[in-house]
Amino acid sequence: MASIEQVSGFFMPRVTLIGIGAHKEIPARIKALGAKKPLLVTDKGITACGITAQIEAQLKAAKLNYAIYDETVPNPTDVNVAKGVQVYKDNKCDSLITLGGGSSHDCGKGIGLVVSNGGAIHDYEGLDKSKKSLPPYLAVNTTAGTASEMTRFCIITDTSRKVKMAIVDWRVTPNTAIDDPLLMVGMPPSLTAATGMDALTHAVEAFVSTAATHMTDACAEKAIVLIAKYLRKAVGDGSNMEAREQMAHAQFLAGMAFNNASLGYVHAMAHQLGGFYDLPHGECNAILLPHVCQFNFIARMGRYGTIARLLDENTAGLTPREAALKGIEAIRTLSADVGIPSGLVELGKRYGKNVQAKDIDIMTKNAQRDACMLTNPRKANDAQIAAIYQSAL
Ligand SMILES: [Fe+2]
Repeated sequence: MASIEQVSGFFMPRVTLIGIGAHKEIPARIKALGAKKPLLVTDKGITACGITAQIEAQLKAAKLNYAIYDETVPNPTDVNVAKGVQVYKDNKCDSLITLGGGSSHDCGKGIGLVVSNGGAIHDYEGLDKSKKSLPPYLAVNTTAGTASEMTRFCIITDTSRKVKMAIVDWRVTPNTAIDDPLLMVGMPPSLTAATGMDALTHAVEAFVSTAATHMTDACAEKAIVLIAKYLRKAVGDGSNMEAREQMAHAQFLAGMAFNNASLGYVHAMAHQLGGFYDLPHGECNAILLPHVCQFNFIARMGRYGTIARLLDENTAGLTPREAALKGIEAIRTLSADVGIPSGLVELGKRYGKNVQAKDIDIMTKNAQRDACMLTNPRKANDAQIAAIYQSAL
């Protein structure tokens, strides 16, 4: 008989609607979950581009009462969650709709945890700390993407410690996920690139994870193929609906992979850049990814060679080492093609942040405590993590 350590779980929403026009199902689907008055959690960017008004019109047409909390910030904070909980309670809401990329979903998951379980969001850092189910919860994705609309991951910044808390809890998985390319078509090229590279990072980290399974491999492999084929097109011509739709599928598949195989040092280290400097998640991942791959590849040489082939590179006649390095080079090329900055200092300048070598020590210590590092294929000591940060500057 298998011991429990050998049993793999597989977590995802009970219902997912994916494709052009899927957002029209929002009122019917939240009603089907028993909702009478959802809290719509979103952010000012989504509101400014008119998507919030579009969804509000749908809810009104369906005669569904709702309240809104739209103050979620990128890298959502414990303060966001606390304010959202207050809005939920003040308006006597009974359910959640989250609308946006990762930030709105993570904030909404945090709100759901606290309204159902009490206490503060900090109480749920770690694995499966909740005791009670969240309210009925539908997540509507507008990027491709973090895949937070379908995962059990909730990343919230602790503003006092300047650390991103990794909350991994099966109960925060949305009941229903909606991925509609029509809501993604307005993304500017830079956001399309950053979120697409985040999805690639999910697929690559899950594929080389120590917790990878046949099921997560299948999802990760297909995601990498689709991203190789469609990310450049989606960034180069945002109105290309085929590219938008295929990227929606790709990011969802990458989500299925990492939701179950978890991640690695790229995310563990990127979370620190997000928590410390408030830099955007997707671009931090994209910059760190080839550097972490360079560290990891000796532990998973065959898999990095497979990544090269999934990225449409020809590895015929190459040694396993050469094929693996070709995969890493293909990641660098894709990243450069879609306009990701070459290093963290340059990224910082774009956002008015001063990324400095003197901050590496504290980020290294916090990265080693991040839950995502547990499944990285090669263990790194502090000096090695610091060296990866240094090489990515
Ligand atoms: Fe991510």
